[in-house]
Amino acid sequence: MKIKDSVAVVTGGASGMGKALAEKLRDAGARGIVVADLDVEGAARVASSLGAIGLAVHADVAEESSVRELVARARERFGSIDLFVSNAGLTVTGGFEAPDEDWRRAIDVNLMAHVYAARAVVPAMLEAGHGHLLQNIAAAGVLTAFGAGPYTVAKHGAVAFAEYLAVQYGGRGLGVSCLLPQAVNTPMLAASVADHEELAVLRSFSNVLEPEEVAEIALAGVEANQLHIYPHPEAADSFRLRAQDPDKWVTEMRAMLSRRGD
Ligand SMILES: NC(=O)c1ccc[n+]([C@@H]2O[C@H](COP(=O)([O-])OP(=O)(O)OC[C@H]3O[C@@H](n4cnc5c(N)ncnc54)[C@H](O)[C@@H]3O)[C@@H](O)[C@H]2O)c1
Repeated sequence: MKIKDSVAVVTGGASGMGKALAEKLRDAGARGIVVADLDVEGAARVASSLGAIGLAVHADVAEESSVRELVARARERFGSIDLFVSNAGLTVTGGFEAPDEDWRRAIDVNLMAHVYAARAVVPAMLEAGHGHLLQNIAAAGVLTAFGAGPYTVAKHGAVAFAEYLAVQYGGRGLGVSCLLPQAVNTPMLAASVADHEELAVLRSFSNVLEPEEVAEIALAGVEANQLHIYPHPEAADSFRLRAQDPDKWVTEMRAMLSRRGD
């Protein structure tokens, strides 16, 4: 799809990659950008920085009624939605011992939000014969996130759902892209490391990208109708290894885990 003159909704648009995506959409010539977030004040700040094309909406992506209301507000203001960016997400750490409510929260925000968005926008996109979903998932959606079982499982589910949509509806004009970054310098990353020392350790293992770099790569991937978008090429290499030789991949992941000292 072409970003120029399109209307986009960005969830989690108050911060980090969502904010950067909203700004890059403006730079690329979008005619309407809806910035949706739980943090309505943050969303309002981002939307007002976009000028007349920005609209802030309070939304909780884990609640279907809230997603429906968001979509209604976007259509009321701009007529139709060409691009829905499901970006809001949250890290949920722990493993099998994590309480059920943590697993449910991870699944509601990181997976069911994509289902609610699809229910709200895909029928109209199919009717129009065009439309695009950009799902900000994480490399964890095709690999694994150390120490974060609920997050990993929910993000894998999000990739599976996106691929299902691409297979099922790609022939009817629906584009679907999974954004699969590793570490990105956002408040979420800052919250997941204890201090500067831990961030330095992380940087020694992973190339930490800036949200603006990721947003630019993401929008190029949307315009090219790319299914998997890997801002970190090393994540694409790891995904290929996982497909070709899962045992070797697990061995490499374990070695990385023990080098990190987790
Ligand atoms: N930062 C990273 O290293 C990294 C890496 C891979 C993937 N991701 C994914 O990228 C996405 C964006 O993360 P970020 O790093 O920019 O985080 P961030 O914390 O900077 O921004 C996330 C935004 O989502 C909003 N949000 C959270 N739950 C919400 C809900 N239920 N409804 C509406 N809004 C909600 C928050 O208020 C916040 O403004 C997430 O899905 C995350 O899992 C992040």
